[in-house]
Amino acid sequence: MAGNHTLMLIKPNAVKNGFAQNIFLEVHDAGFKILAQKKLQLSKNEAEAFYYVHEGKPFFNSLVEFMTSGPIYAAVLEKENAVAEWRKLMGATDPAKAEEGTIRKKYAESMEHNAVHGSDSDENALNEIFFYFSAREIVNAGGDIYQIHNIVKK
Ligand code: CMP
Repeated sequence: MAGNHTLMLIKPNAVKNGFAQNIFLEVHDAGFKILAQKKLQLSKNEAEAFYYVHEGKPFFNSLVEFMTSGPIYAAVLEKENAVAEWRKLMGATDPAKAEEGTIRKKYAESMEHNAVHGSDSDENALNEIFFYFSAREIVNAGGDIYQIHNIVKK
């Protein structure tokens, strides 16, 4: 069963350029519930940990430098089939290949400065959501932890 939650990041370039509110509006208008959100700035350690799967790749150091260069927004999005739905709205990682009307087509500058992030599977969504948010924060924002874990409450 596909999960109903994903993690969205609005990256430093989009925040600096003043696009965050428009992006949140587009997400809302596309039928996502924004379950929890926060503005924060990643430390080098945190960015390295979040992107550990890319360690060793040629773009890793530059990605970490970019992601720590200013504030970002992290948000938990809720919608049926959230991972795929948010990836469709974001568009391709490389904005040159993103479809018209997608967020990356509108707001991204390059493959690295690509405005937003989304989880690529339900399993990663769970890990990424709990990288940025505690269970307490999600519960206090009205989120159902059982649903986020994609398990049925007994
Ligand atoms: P995202 O999918 O959000 O998370 C990993 C990021 O690494 C990706 O967005 C891009 O910003 C960046 N990235 C992936 N591939 C490349 C690449 N070939 N060159 C530069 N940046 C990349």
